[in-house]
Amino acid sequence: MLRSANDMAHRPGSAKRIAVIPGDGVGKEVIPAAVKILKAAAQKGSRELAITGFDWGADRYLRDGTTLPADAVEMFRRDFDAILLGALGDSRVPDNRHAADILLGLRFQLDLYANERPCVLIDSKLTPLRNRTEKEIHFHVIRENTEGLYAGMGGFFKKGTADEIATQEDVNTRKGVERIIRYAFEFARRRGLRRVCMSDKSNALTFGHNLWTRVFAEVRRQYSDIEASHMYIDNLLLQMVRDPSQFQVIVTCNLFGDIASDLGAGLIGGLGLAPSGNIHPGQVSLFEPVHGSAPDIAGKGIANPMGAALAAAMMCDYIGWTAEDQCIKHAVFAAIREGKMTPDLGGSLTTREVGDWIAGRVSAS
Ligand SMILES: NC(=O)c1ccc[n+]([C@@H]2O[C@H](COP(=O)([O-])OP(=O)(O)OC[C@H]3O[C@@H](n4cnc5c(N)ncnc54)[C@H](O)[C@@H]3O)[C@@H](O)[C@H]2O)c1
Repeated sequence: MLRSANDMAHRPGSAKRIAVIPGDGVGKEVIPAAVKILKAAAQKGSRELAITGFDWGADRYLRDGTTLPADAVEMFRRDFDAILLGALGDSRVPDNRHAADILLGLRFQLDLYANERPCVLIDSKLTPLRNRTEKEIHFHVIRENTEGLYAGMGGFFKKGTADEIATQEDVNTRKGVERIIRYAFEFARRRGLRRVCMSDKSNALTFGHNLWTRVFAEVRRQYSDIEASHMYIDNLLLQMVRDPSQFQVIVTCNLFGDIASDLGAGLIGGLGLAPSGNIHPGQVSLFEPVHGSAPDIAGKGIANPMGAALAAAMMCDYIGWTAEDQCIKHAVFAAIREGKMTPDLGGSLTTREVGDWIAGRVSAS
């Protein structure tokens, strides 16, 4: 039986059941820190939390071939309120088969069609842009998460020969496009935001993105309280750097959302700070930092745990723990203000030290 996030929030006295998948590389470093912070927030708010860990990732795959077990999706729907994931990707698995099976498998099979990626500047000293304030870089990328060029449709012909052909199909369904555009308008309305910008490349992608343009024109008519605009993706990326203050909500396809949100992360201080939610409203949803397994720094204990902590905060908000969401966010903001940071932000603390400091701040707040 499907539950709504709201129903879950009002199940009195019951523990929230959180599945935790640290995954690979720095995922195994930042997720323990985020879980510690989450536990501190739950304790602070006298909330019950039931955490179950899953060791899916490259080590497990190389050991026994497990990626996403056949019954996993049903289990998550039945037994969990939300999933917290680190990152997946390991060079010992050259095609990253395990990562595709687990992460794309969960996104597709749980139909987590909306990928929310906030790009919120916490402190003006963190942006590489000159003279920009926190108010001027505060927008959300809403990325379509189940279709487009990530649908895995395509193939090789004459692979490995000089005549090789490789195709990758861009899948855009009316249902998929309409629901993500509607999600973006509803998201804006819920948060009292006034502007939604849809970005595509309909001047060149004259079929798939023509559908985006037509559906956007239809849906925007139902949200006359919100200012709707359109930008081609190349211009959008330029404008994000030139004047990010013009954006509040950006909605776009899977590939463009992936790229735009990494640029957005760059504007707020780097990938180590950026959280995301993979959401199907009312159903079990998945929260993760935007970054990957960062093999260049994995094992050194210096990965920034703030993106993972902020993903845990987003998860709290989703399951109805709004005070805990705020509490974690404020503790992360305080860590930045007080210079309790990892080297990517110019600090000298380790992942664990930053995580412990934020957890301590949550408890003391
Ligand atoms: N959602 C996911 O699980 C996800 C997302 C992106 C990439 N990946 C995978 O991760 C692997 C590495 O990919 P990549 O190098 O392109 O991207 P990446 O995000 O892992 O790293 C990009 C850069 O950001 C830095 N970085 C990332 N996370 C950081 C953190 N928490 N603190 C400080 N610095 C951080 C890295 O050191 C690196 O310089 C690949 O296998 C890729 O497929 C997984």
